[in-house]
Amino acid sequence: MKRKLLIFIGIVAVIIAGVGYYFSQNRDTSIGIDNSIANEDSKVGTTTLDSERVLVVYFSQGGNTQKLAKEISDQVGGDFRRIEPITPYPDGDELLDYAKTEQDNDERPEIKDIDVDMTKYDTVFIGYPVWWYTYPQIILSFFDNYDLSDKTIVPFVTHGGSGMSGAEEDMQTYLKDKNVTVLEGLPVSRNVIENDQSETVSNWLKELGLK
Ligand SMILES: Cc1cc2nc3c(=O)[nH]c(=O)nc-3n(C[C@H](O)[C@H](O)[C@H](O)COP(=O)(O)O)c2cc1C
Repeated sequence: MKRKLLIFIGIVAVIIAGVGYYFSQNRDTSIGIDNSIANEDSKVGTTTLDSERVLVVYFSQGGNTQKLAKEISDQVGGDFRRIEPITPYPDGDELLDYAKTEQDNDERPEIKDIDVDMTKYDTVFIGYPVWWYTYPQIILSFFDNYDLSDKTIVPFVTHGGSGMSGAEEDMQTYLKDKNVTVLEGLPVSRNVIENDQSETVSNWLKELGLK
């Protein structure tokens, strides 16, 4: 009888821990959008890439991915753009259901024009927060609106625990008719995003053979 009780308590504890992990991973704890981080043009980079032919583009709801994007842009140079929805996303818990519904319905939220000539670039770094184990649908809006044919795509994400979540494969599949090359992405946990990310980014670029 005592053994059965212990097994029951064990099962309940595992369920509670699992549910707790699930919610803690998906809830949003972000540093906040920094309005002083603006779009930029023609920056000089410190990699082997021709910075004139580089674009760093990102979507960020709460600022974590924006911070990472800015660090990457400062190192690789080129043009720097933020992807923004025409209809702003809700904040807080409301966003969880909103984003899930958007994903379930395979929606393409309308995005603001980012004012670039895509033919200028060979390499496009694309960043976003992991939402429900993959990219937010707004990234697909970007893919649908801007022609990435023949380009090298380099993804980066911030997340609450699920890492890259297969982003490279998902992008390769979505863009299979565009002859893109997708390099290994950089996942950064939101738990460390407040720390200086310059070394992490630099090491990643070295691993990719870009530094
Ligand atoms: C709608 C929603 C879904 C999320 N889903 C996941 C997830 O599946 N896996 C994960 O690790 N983090 C998930 N998160 C956490 C975010 O990826 C993380 O907080 C991220 O750093 C937020 O970036 P931002 O501040 O640039 O918006 C989710 C957050 C939200 C708002």
